[in-house]
Amino acid sequence: MKGNQNIREERTADMMTAVQNWGGVPSGWTRRHLLGLEDVTAGEITLLLDQAERFRNVIVQGERRIPLLNGKTCVNLFFENSTRTKTSFAFAARRLGADAADFTAATSSLAKGETIIDTAKNIEAMQIDAVIVRHSCPGTAKLLAENINGHVFNAGDGPHEHPTQALLDLMTIRQRFGKIAGLTVALVGDIAHSRTARSNIWGLKALGADVILCGPSTLVSKNWEKIGGVEVSHSLDKILDRADVFNLLRIQFERQVVRPFPSTREYAHLYGMDSVRLAKAKKDVLIIAPGPINRGLEITPDVADCPQSAILDQVTNGVAVRMAALWLCLNR
Ligand code: NCD
Repeated sequence: MKGNQNIREERTADMMTAVQNWGGVPSGWTRRHLLGLEDVTAGEITLLLDQAERFRNVIVQGERRIPLLNGKTCVNLFFENSTRTKTSFAFAARRLGADAADFTAATSSLAKGETIIDTAKNIEAMQIDAVIVRHSCPGTAKLLAENINGHVFNAGDGPHEHPTQALLDLMTIRQRFGKIAGLTVALVGDIAHSRTARSNIWGLKALGADVILCGPSTLVSKNWEKIGGVEVSHSLDKILDRADVFNLLRIQFERQVVRPFPSTREYAHLYGMDSVRLAKAKKDVLIIAPGPINRGLEITPDVADCPQSAILDQVTNGVAVRMAALWLCLNR
C-alpha cells in the first residue's frame, strides 16, 4: 500500500501538470475568499468571468474533470434551503478534482447549542480547504473568514450578498450581448430582501451598466438612487421598452416581516412579466431569473420558456462561475 506521503506527492504532481496544461494560474487575483461584490473591481470580475467562460467551454464539450484542485476538499455549510447553489458548488469542486462534502445544518450539533464558529472550526479540523456557507444572518461568511484558516465562499448571507449568483447573471448577460457596459439592466421585484439584487447592483455598476430597480415602493426604496448609477421605478410598464435585460427576482416571503402588498394576484398584475409586457420590450431583450421561479407570480410560464429567456443557461453558467471562483481563490 502506498504511503500517505506518496499519495500526496502524486496528487500534487497531477495538479501541477493540470495547472500547466491549463496555462498556469492567472495573475491579478489576490482574494482568498469570495464574500461579496461590493468591493470587487471591474478587472477582478472580468478575470473571473473569462476563466468561467473557459471552464464552460470545456464542460459543454463533454470534459467533466479538469484536475486543477486535485486533493483539495470543499464543504457545503448550508443553513438555508438551496437547490442550484449548493449542487453547483459541489459539481464545481468535483469537476476541478476536489472532494466535496455536505454538512446538513438541521441534523448538526448547532441544534444542541454549538456556535457557528465552533462548528466551522471542527469541520476545518477535518483538514478541509474551503467552506461554502449560506446563512440567514448577514455577515456570516465574513465572520467565518475572520475565524477559520480555510477559504470562505459566501453562498448567500440573509438579504446581504450572493456574489456567485450575480457573477453567473453577469456571465449570462455578457454571453448574450458581448458586453455589460452601456446596457440597461432592470432588477424587478423584492429588492428590499434580495441578496441577489444587492450583489447584482455592485457587479453591474462596476462593469458600467445602468441599473433600474423596479417594484412596489414597499419593496424598492428611492434611497437606492443616492448611490448613483441606479434609478428607481415603481412602474414596470413604464420601463418595458428601456431595459436590455430584465432580471425577475422572487418575492422573498420567508424574509418579510409584514406583507408588502395586498395580494400575490395584485403583484402579478402590476409586476409580473407576461407575454403582453414582453411584446412591448426591446426585440432582443434578455430575460433572466435567479430561481427558484414562481410561475404565474413574477413570471408567466410562456415567458419563462420563451426564446429570450436564459434561465437554464444561468444554471450552466453557475457551475462554471463557481469553478472559476474556487480555482482563483484556492490558487491565488
Ligand atoms: C437566490 C437566493 O437564494 O438568494 N436563489 C439562488 O441562489 N438560486 C434567489 C432566491 O431565492 O429567490
